[in-house]
Amino acid sequence: MNDMARLSERAGRIPGSPTQAVTTMVDRLRRSGVQVIDFGAGEPDFPTVAVAKAAAHQAIDADFTKYTPNSGTAELKRAICDRYRIDYGVEYGEPEVIVNAGGKQALYNAALALFGPGDEVITHAPCWPTIPEQIKLADATVVPVETPAVRGFAIRADAILERVTSHTRGIIVNSPCNPTGAVIAEPEFEAIAEVCGRQGIWLVVDLCYEKLIYDPVPHNLPGIIARKCRASGVICGSASKAYAMTGWRCGWTLGPEALIAASSAIQSHATSNVSSITQKAVVAALTGPPEPVRAMLDEYRLRRDRLHEWLTADPRLKCHKPGGAFYMFVDLREVLSETGLESSMAFAEALLADARVALTPGEGFGAPGFVRISYATSMEDLRDGSRAMLEFIRAKTSSAAAAR
Ligand SMILES: Cc1ncc(COP(=O)(O)O)c(C=O)c1O
Repeated sequence: MNDMARLSERAGRIPGSPTQAVTTMVDRLRRSGVQVIDFGAGEPDFPTVAVAKAAAHQAIDADFTKYTPNSGTAELKRAICDRYRIDYGVEYGEPEVIVNAGGKQALYNAALALFGPGDEVITHAPCWPTIPEQIKLADATVVPVETPAVRGFAIRADAILERVTSHTRGIIVNSPCNPTGAVIAEPEFEAIAEVCGRQGIWLVVDLCYEKLIYDPVPHNLPGIIARKCRASGVICGSASKAYAMTGWRCGWTLGPEALIAASSAIQSHATSNVSSITQKAVVAALTGPPEPVRAMLDEYRLRRDRLHEWLTADPRLKCHKPGGAFYMFVDLREVLSETGLESSMAFAEALLADARVALTPGEGFGAPGFVRISYATSMEDLRDGSRAMLEFIRAKTSSAAAAR
């Protein structure tokens, strides 16, 4: 390749999504006729809620198929603001909300609008890999704060605030967290929000899994933002996981007018409005009955409990019951040392090759020695897949012991 045809320095800095790499591998195997149990999926296995599908059909039939305002229709913005007022008691108006193509774009636009060279942005690790990559895409520096497995990956305010310097421009919190399922305690979030409000640090909260919390724990993060740091608080949400709408691509941002205007300007040159049909569907999802969401949550809870029971039948597999989202984050370190597999990546590759079970190695989440198991899949697959995984571990342990 000559100099004229080189990729940008930025492109060289950003690896592809490791979670999508597993999906690609599983797809390839399935296309060649191999049956795989997939614990890699980061999306609900349920169909999209019925009211959303019906609204989309109607939108097409009514020819609601043209550009909409770049930042979203007034109807959807109103539905988002209403949802947050009903759920959290916070008041946001139309200039304080934008509709984005997924929570991913909401967070990306925010990163581009808020961060730049020389800025430090604190986030917790293990984390969803997109968060640090977006910070890097904004040319800012990631400051990861470890959330230890022994404390259930709880996000602690003191650990985060200890890392604040004069260069700190933002703090990003994801709760419930992908991949750990940890739900931040309100007092911890409040302590972070307090400092952000006082020091003018941006506090971005990724609430993509906000509807998937298993126990009735207090989690009014929007309310805390409104009270403590409204002028520097940013709420990113999504229809993807709550309403089983990952393919529709709809998320949103609530925040100060200047940020929303900047997010809109960025979006106007990148992708423009979210699909008009999707927007109609999401209005129906947000304003529709809560029962379908509750039914999915109940099923995830059942799966979580059974999966936890099945996996911990081998005491070397350490895992907490997640408080939210639909992932079990399993500590494999003891298994790795006994099987001779040198990393969770090597474990995942061997498990896929030998037992046809796909899961996501922790390296992608900044947590080597761990794996993420998604239970957004059927109970039968969870039972068969966890059984196959335990058998695989037993076989590997015996052959490693025999070789010693
Ligand atoms: C923690 C977290 N935030 C945000 C997203 C973005 O999802 P979407 O762009 O589909 O709304 C995801 C998707 O997996 C996620 O896991």
